[in-house]
Amino acid sequence: MKVGIDLIHFATADYYLGLDTFAAEKHIDVEKFTIGIGQEKMSIAPPDEDVVSLAAKAAAPILEHIEANEISAVLFATETGVDQSKSAGAFLHGLLGLSNRCRVIELKHACYAGAAALQMATSMIRANPKEKILVIAADIAKYDVDTSGEATQGCGAVAMLVTEAPRIIEIEPGSGFYTDDVMDFWRPNHRTTALVDGKYSTKVYLNSLKHAWKHFTEQTNRTFDDIDYFCYHIPFTKMAEKAHKTLVKKVGAKLTQAQIDAQTLPSQLYNRIVGNSYSASLFVGFISLLDNIDSHLHNLEGKRVSFFSYGSGCVAEFFTGVIQPGYQKVLMTDEHKTTIAHRQALSYQEYLDFYHNVDNALENVVFPVNNQGPYRLAGIKDHKRYYEKSH
Ligand code: HMG
Repeated sequence: MKVGIDLIHFATADYYLGLDTFAAEKHIDVEKFTIGIGQEKMSIAPPDEDVVSLAAKAAAPILEHIEANEISAVLFATETGVDQSKSAGAFLHGLLGLSNRCRVIELKHACYAGAAALQMATSMIRANPKEKILVIAADIAKYDVDTSGEATQGCGAVAMLVTEAPRIIEIEPGSGFYTDDVMDFWRPNHRTTALVDGKYSTKVYLNSLKHAWKHFTEQTNRTFDDIDYFCYHIPFTKMAEKAHKTLVKKVGAKLTQAQIDAQTLPSQLYNRIVGNSYSASLFVGFISLLDNIDSHLHNLEGKRVSFFSYGSGCVAEFFTGVIQPGYQKVLMTDEHKTTIAHRQALSYQEYLDFYHNVDNALENVVFPVNNQGPYRLAGIKDHKRYYEKSH
């Protein structure tokens, strides 16, 4: 039985901060960002955008292709949760009008939870092929102003319909994983911004890749040459480049730069202009591969794609999938390109105004309309968040 991603769509905020604007404000050479970390823009969420509204924007186009009451579970991966008790998926369930005969749960482990949710969904479907599961990975990456992490913010949500006989990619059984209790990046409950030991985090990421890869090869007997395209968790695109070079070196492959680029570059294009979206970032990379590869020259049908998920703290997993015949017919490429292209640029001051006006601690607030919809966080009343569908 084949199980995997039947439909996939992503959403991001309506605004971005250019790293050229950022570099000018901070009096830093812009090439530190465009070349040094490989980033050009970061999507910035206004105060009336949170992971629930982002997830609703990501999922709504999928629900145009399936009856809402066919969704048997929502697995919502995020580290930007909006409530310590009620899951973000329950808010989403209400906004999308899903059936009461649907279970909803939130999953967390830094950027890893999206991959965990996808793997959990495939197992649930193998146990009961009638299930149709909506997997959401949604996050808003936020660091303190004037820290090295500030240039690696961003946000986004990916919605994936996971089913039997998937039309886009079969997720293959067997994966390699690695967990270690480390403090490379964390966000205590009282903080809205993450703390990070930046350079250490990049070392732990690469070390986790080596371990997860070794476990993957032992579990599956697959080799580097069995994989056509490589998708990595992308906190910034240079990290994915370093990851792939590390893997190439570890397996002793003799590849030209052009071959390395062909295996990885298409999966980095969106992330370069969206920024880090934590749990969503690996899947934004996968969508970037599907949307940006020149399909006349490189038809992906039958190609094997690898996924490396890394969540600080840390948990990592390496797994693969095979692209299905006819996948191009169900891609939402135009929608993704329009979403990205229609974002408005912010000045550094406008970014700061958004940054400082997100206040989850407020009991009562009505947010001014900045989010262009169709779903937005309207306000908080008596500690309860309320959302609206704006058109
Ligand atoms: P930094 O101190 O701002 O930058 O930290 P740097 O001085 O290390 O420079 C970065 C690179 O730019 C270096 O290249 C420089 O040489 C180069 P590298 O040595 O790395 O190859 N550079 C230049 N290149 C061209 N022209 C120039 C120039 N100047 C410098 N003029 C850091 C960078 C990434 C550490 C920082 O941004 C940070 O802390 N970010 C947040 C943490 C992070 O993203 N970690 C990634 C791994 S952990 C992870 O992926 C998990 C995560 O997504 C969270 C989760 O799991 O939930 C973060």
